[in-house]
Amino acid sequence: MGWLHLRGQQKLAAPEALIADDRASYPDLAEIKGQESAKRVLEVAAAGGHNLLMIGPPGSGKSMLAARLPGILPPLEAEEALEASMVRSLAGDLGEGKLSRRRTFRDPHHSATLQALVGGGPRARPGEVSLAHHGVLFLDELPEFNRASLEALRQPLESGRVTVARANAHVTYPARFQLVAAMNPCRCGHLMEPNRACGRTPRCGLDYQGKISGPLLDRIDLSIDVPPVSAADLALPPPAETSAGVAARVAAARALQRDRLEEFDRKGKLLAIEADETAGLLADRVRNWSKPRCNADTDGAVLAAIAEPDAEGRALLTRAAERLGLSARAWHRTLRVARTLADLDGSDAVRRLHIAEALSYRRPQPRTALAA
Ligand SMILES: Nc1ncnc2c1ncn2[C@@H]1O[C@H](COP(=O)(O)OP(=O)(O)OP(=O)(O)O)[C@@H](O)[C@H]1O
Ligand SMILES: [Mg+2]
Repeated sequence: MGWLHLRGQQKLAAPEALIADDRASYPDLAEIKGQESAKRVLEVAAAGGHNLLMIGPPGSGKSMLAARLPGILPPLEAEEALEASMVRSLAGDLGEGKLSRRRTFRDPHHSATLQALVGGGPRARPGEVSLAHHGVLFLDELPEFNRASLEALRQPLESGRVTVARANAHVTYPARFQLVAAMNPCRCGHLMEPNRACGRTPRCGLDYQGKISGPLLDRIDLSIDVPPVSAADLALPPPAETSAGVAARVAAARALQRDRLEEFDRKGKLLAIEADETAGLLADRVRNWSKPRCNADTDGAVLAAIAEPDAEGRALLTRAAERLGLSARAWHRTLRVARTLADLDGSDAVRRLHIAEALSYRRPQPRTALAA
């Protein structure tokens, strides 16, 4: 066969990519009763690719919400599917060698070692951060992870890739994942409920939440309280809104972002960010892993250019920054989220109401006042 092709007598059939059967569905948002504001934030997180932290008492539905994120994210684009499959194949995790357009959902246990999480070891396997490339990394009970593991997340969260040491060299793997973290407000879990909290409030909450370092929290655009579900909400019939409905709005918002960022890419503005990389094909790949694909990946000049609010929005943000003492990072976080809210609205301009809603998703302050 092959030699007939080489002699120009027969044409070989083009190879066909094996595509995995992706029909098996994700759990649906319609199973979650109440928690309307948490669901809204999950939609915002999906629309802009933002990292999300949920803080709430046991049984409030945090793990349920997280598991429903991949179901509202758009399917992987061809290039993303290829990249994600390459990493999984390196880890010997690709099943029958079929490509998949599903976003992976990785939820390592908090006892996972540093190597299991970020990769490395004698055979330099990719870790969970890379297996979650273009997918979701869910860290449940965040403060229970050891400190070194949490700190090691900072590099991939910043750059979309991770460099791990081998015996005599370094290997770089892609690691552009969306982080979703969940935690109780304190060790006993009931800090916010006056009749159930333990006798150590507010110390117990401050100690527990203090295990998460500032630089890690700085990479989390959305941080919300998930209150207990009320009995009245539980008694209601299931909500009408399904994951499919939310996914359609998310896809529309993502399409706006993709077009906008591609425009920047054409002008060479995105690539300029990584101009110091070593030359060659490999550098192109590595740069590709780091290329911003959604609002959450933008920073600096690109963010300033795409999320400049209108005059009223800017006035509100300036006032909030003065009153609340927002750091420069918090200012950027607000702009990123406001850009996504405008995209969900189909609005070109970032307006005052987008800034106002974005400001409401700031990290809840430690509950000294409430718990005392
Ligand atoms: N909003 C809700 N609607 C319907 N069922 C819910 C809701 N919230 C929680 N449940 C029920 O409670 C169970 C526990 O929810 P889940 O595991 O998501 O809580 P959690 O917030 O992650 O708790 P923990 O802090 O203990 O991990 C679910 O399996 C589900 O049966
Ligand atoms: Mg849970």
